[in-house]
Amino acid sequence: MKRGERFSPKRSGKARVRMLAKVMADRALPIVAGLVLAVLSVGIAWSLGASWLTIGLTAAVGLIIGGILGQGAAWARAGAGAGRRQELLVLRTIDTVERESRRTRDDLTQRVRTGFAEASKNHNAAIAGAVSATREEVKSQHRTTRRHVDDQVALLEAYVQLQRLVDLPRPMPRAGTWAASEDLLLWLVGEVLEKHPRLIVDLGSGQSSVWMAAAMRHAGIQGRVVAIDHDESYAESTRRLGEAQGVTRWLEVRHAPLVSVTVDDRSGQWYDPAAFDDLEGIGLLSVDGPPGAGSEQARWPALPLLHDRLVPGARVVLDDLIRRDEKQIVADWHQRFPGVDVRELDFEKGAAVFTMPRERDR
Ligand SMILES: C[S@@+](CC[C@H](N)C(=O)[O-])C[C@H]1O[C@@H](n2cnc3c(N)ncnc32)[C@H](O)[C@@H]1O
Repeated sequence: MKRGERFSPKRSGKARVRMLAKVMADRALPIVAGLVLAVLSVGIAWSLGASWLTIGLTAAVGLIIGGILGQGAAWARAGAGAGRRQELLVLRTIDTVERESRRTRDDLTQRVRTGFAEASKNHNAAIAGAVSATREEVKSQHRTTRRHVDDQVALLEAYVQLQRLVDLPRPMPRAGTWAASEDLLLWLVGEVLEKHPRLIVDLGSGQSSVWMAAAMRHAGIQGRVVAIDHDESYAESTRRLGEAQGVTRWLEVRHAPLVSVTVDDRSGQWYDPAAFDDLEGIGLLSVDGPPGAGSEQARWPALPLLHDRLVPGARVVLDDLIRRDEKQIVADWHQRFPGVDVRELDFEKGAAVFTMPRERDR
């Protein structure tokens, strides 16, 4: 058997017979060799005319020497067979090792290929995921920036329109984050110019109060804005702004500290209701106070407490609809006052407008 040939542990029938014959030949060799040498010795002794005793001794010696030589030959063959078996065992071991290493190599190659394919698939998926997430993020940022730019342009346009619609003799201070934004201010001024409300209540005094009073003056409306502030210092600032803009005839700023109020099943801090005792026939109610900090749905009592003081068809506007609290207030008011129409205004800070039913709708 040569290296590289497949070794078959099963022997064929012929091989088995050959093996058996070989074993038997090895066993018979000393006897055959002894007999052959004995016969040759007898033949030689007899041809030389030796006596029967000599012939007999010669035969015995020939038998013994032949047997010894035969046994030696058998051992030599057996030794050669053992070497051959050793060689076969070694070849078989080499063959097994080669096969195992081939299998291991193939197995490893397959595993490396599979692992690489899997890793590359995961890698590609991760890259695709990251690219997609980044694209979405960029899109979202673009939308936010676009929305912000649109808002700023809309606010600027609103401010330009405000200046054109209503004359103010003095510059207005920078609005800041606490004031109503220009889009809502424009809407309030538009309401005044169009609907001519006689009584406007502005919850949370400030620039909105002054703009609405200026719109009343501009339209020649015989009415007033009553601005309510829980904080005397802000009430005073609004008064001074009203004086500077020459609208004191149309503007009254009231200080109404926050007190505990209970309406239906709900209690909370709100403007002292005594501040509203004389206010009947409100045509426009702006709800931009009190500030929400520290109190949940701080502006909620406005409509439940004041709706009896509103004229039919009056408008109520709630600022800051981008806040969760204000959204909940709108939902609750909508449920409590089913005949009231509600619309959302797409303003910078969001707003909701409620229109009270006219007399015949009530
Ligand atoms: C949202 S602000 C009302 C703004 C007003 N409607 C306007 O358009 O200017 C509500 C209340 O916050 C308070 N306030 C106004 N400016 C403030 C400021 N810069 N910091 C803290 N509170 C302020 C005032 O008491 C005001 O009544």
